[in-house]
Amino acid sequence: MTMTAAHDVQTQARQLAGYADASRLRQEHDRDWVLDRIPDAPAALVDLGSGIGQLLDTALDRFPTLTRAVGLERSPHRIAEARQRLARHGDRVALHPADLLRPPLLPLRADAVTMTSVLHWLHPDEERILAWVAEHLAPRGRFLLTTYHPDRDEDGFGGEDEIVRDALASLGVRSAGVPGLFRAGAVLPIGTRTRTADDLRRLLERHFTVVGTHERDAVVTVDSAERYTHFHAATFGDYYGRLVEPARRTDFYRAVGESAVRRQEQRGHVSSMPVRLWELGPADPSGRLL
Ligand SMILES: C[S@@+](CC[C@H](N)C(=O)[O-])C[C@H]1O[C@@H](n2cnc3c(N)ncnc32)[C@H](O)[C@@H]1O
Repeated sequence: MTMTAAHDVQTQARQLAGYADASRLRQEHDRDWVLDRIPDAPAALVDLGSGIGQLLDTALDRFPTLTRAVGLERSPHRIAEARQRLARHGDRVALHPADLLRPPLLPLRADAVTMTSVLHWLHPDEERILAWVAEHLAPRGRFLLTTYHPDRDEDGFGGEDEIVRDALASLGVRSAGVPGLFRAGAVLPIGTRTRTADDLRRLLERHFTVVGTHERDAVVTVDSAERYTHFHAATFGDYYGRLVEPARRTDFYRAVGESAVRRQEQRGHVSSMPVRLWELGPADPSGRLL
């Protein structure tokens, strides 16, 4: 990798950049899956962890009745990209910089609240956003949530953690030492952040009625190590990169791409994991509480 490329992957990871392209590998498939289950003729929609605004953009085109589309998102780089993408919708859309662990009160009742590929980032404090959604959902509203459920091992590792473990091993870290490295760096494995479906159901039922669930497998394949490095930096940013000293980070991101390709050669794909779409309604289906 050249010096320019070396600089680029680290900057990309810090800014979570390149998501429009990278999300084609996995996250984009959630979009229509979720929008197909929005109640008829919605007026107000809130997207939590709205990223670069792709779901809101599609929803605004698809539902002419939508007059209040609101995105809450923490990353300033992603909000800036979303503003550009959504400018053509004028005042039908509003984007708020926000931490979903301390979400601001909004003066609305939403016909739909969506949250795709975000909940694991709020672990172990998911209940704060669940209580917020319950407060902001209209009596017949729907909370449409997608969650990932990779297998996890005895160290709580699953999904991307395994690719990172292989990458660290190829840089000379003993496999057995990786969980300790995660703990020392205060990096919680994604396999631990993503609760099991049963665990999550118990949590969701404290706030909502589970109207239905749908499952699909998210299978990721890549045509090159560089492409996976790009996907990793755009999706996970420097979450794992900070386990490695700055001078070795470019090597780390390259090793992640190479590890992904090795796995694909062995298994036919880099990763495959169940994704669940939860269709949730207010806890009191009659809406009397609201
Ligand atoms: C994997 S992306 C998903 C983006 C989009 N929902 C999608 O499906 O393409 C996760 C998003 O959640 C945002 N996020 C993570 N933790 C957050 C928090 N505490 N508050 C607000 N946004 C957060 C990230 O910045 C990122 O845009």
